[in-house]
Amino acid sequence: MGFGRGFDSRIPTQTLIDLTNGMLLRYDRNVKVKLSDLKPFASDPKAVDEILKTGDHVVYEYYENVVEGGFIYGVTIIYPGLIGEEYNFTRGHYHLRGDADEIYIGIKGKGLLLMQDKRGDFYSYPIERGYIVYIPGEYAHRTVNIGEEPLIFLYIYPANAGHDYESIKMKGFKKVILRRDGKPILVDNPRYRE
Ligand code: F6R
Ligand code: ZN
Repeated sequence: MGFGRGFDSRIPTQTLIDLTNGMLLRYDRNVKVKLSDLKPFASDPKAVDEILKTGDHVVYEYYENVVEGGFIYGVTIIYPGLIGEEYNFTRGHYHLRGDADEIYIGIKGKGLLLMQDKRGDFYSYPIERGYIVYIPGEYAHRTVNIGEEPLIFLYIYPANAGHDYESIKMKGFKKVILRRDGKPILVDNPRYRE
C-alpha cells in the first residue's frame, strides 16, 4: 500500500510528484512527441524539414495515470527550443466532449497556454509555477515553452474527454508565438484557416 502502488479504478490511490523535475513516482503511460510528429502543426514546416536533416528529437513528453470512469491526470514536460522562429509547443487539441473541462497547474518553467474555440474566440494565458488555468471543454488548447528550461505543468481532465487533433492539423491555431529580438511575440498564424 502507499506510494507507487498500482491503481485500481474505484479505490482511493496516492502517488508522488518530484516538483524539481516533474517525475511521477508511478504512471500508466509515457508519451513522447518528436519534432517529426509536429510537422503538420508547425507554422513553418520547412523549418521542421531543415532541422530533421540533422536528426529527430523529442520536443515534449507526458506521463499520466488513467482512472477509467474518472480522471486522467499527469505531467507534461516541454523541452526548451525553437522550430524555426516558433517556440517549442504541443500539438494542441479540442476535447471531443464539449463538457470535458481541464485544469492545468504550472510547476516549473515559463510558458503560454493558447486557447481558442470554434467561433474564433482566442485567449493566451501565462503558465508558470503556481499558475492555475481552467480550460472549458469547448476550447482547443496548446502550450508553448517560451523559457530556457523545461516547462512542466500538471493536468487533470475527465477520462472520457477524447481528443480531436485533426481540426488543429487542418486549421491551425489563430496565433503563434515566435521569437523576435530574443523575445516572444504573439502573431497571426499565416497557416490558420477560419
Ligand atoms: C490532455 C491535455 C494534456 C496534453 C499534453 C500534450 O487533454 O490537454 O495532457 O495532452 O500537454 O499536448 P497534446 O495532447 O496537444 O499533444
Ligand atoms: Zn486537453
